[in-house]
Amino acid sequence: MEKKIIITIDGWSSCGKSTLAKQLARELGYVYIDSGAMYRAITLYFLRNHLDWTKHKAVEDALTKINLEFLSNHKNGQSEIYLNGENVEYVIRDLVVAEKVSEVAAIKEVRQFAVRQQQDMGQKKGIVMDGRDIGTVVFPDAELKIFMTADNAIRVERRFRELYEKNPNITIEEVKANLEMRDYIDSHREVSPLRQAEDALLLDNSRLTMREQLDIALKWVHERLKMA
Ligand code: CDP
Ligand code: CDP
Repeated sequence: MEKKIIITIDGWSSCGKSTLAKQLARELGYVYIDSGAMYRAITLYFLRNHLDWTKHKAVEDALTKINLEFLSNHKNGQSEIYLNGENVEYVIRDLVVAEKVSEVAAIKEVRQFAVRQQQDMGQKKGIVMDGRDIGTVVFPDAELKIFMTADNAIRVERRFRELYEKNPNITIEEVKANLEMRDYIDSHREVSPLRQAEDALLLDNSRLTMREQLDIALKWVHERLKMA
């Protein structure tokens, strides 16, 4: 039977993690899981229910009411996230959610809730998952770990272009402030802070095209498949 591995992609916000994860999943016929979408969907639920997430009991109760699923879009085959049966793939990308997601993702109970489900999804291997703690906490034994980065100004510009398409009122300053704030909280929190795993390979795609970044990662995949 064909060998399958687990590929983890962690790194700073908006550097191109999910783009690469989707490219790899398509090339290899693997399942792609956007772990950030889970934290964003949980944040959306908390915001909609006006939850005070500084209260442990409130968080624990709310988590028992949240069901997250990834289902494939019949039109383009892309995996999309559903929150209690509702497709929230688009709405979770809003800056309103991005403003609060790092606060919510720093809560221990929220992380336990998400990590347990992420680990279940990786049981059969053949998965590419991107996030912040995938190589360090979720799959510490993954066969290939990639840590992505890109220059700050390039990351801001990339995310600004995406958000501007949806909302022309958005400013580059807002996007820059959000990225800086999330990167700071994500890398300084107590539980599972963002850091490069010791055995992760660094990929700086500041000056790489999509094709170039994919070729580098595919070379790594084939090396690891030979070793697996
Ligand atoms: O796509 P982008 O880099 O903007 O962020 P994302 O992957 O959608 O993740 C949104 C937020 O979720 C991050 O800023 C983190 O606060 C949190 N996150 C996390 O804590 N752990 C993960 N494995 C993935 C995301
Ligand atoms: O998942 P993450 O937040 O790290 O980033 P992303 O959503 O994959 O990528 C952010 C933006 O950068 C997307 O609009 C990509 O098309 C773009 N990108 C790029 O311009 N050049 C690359 N080499 C990789 C991504």
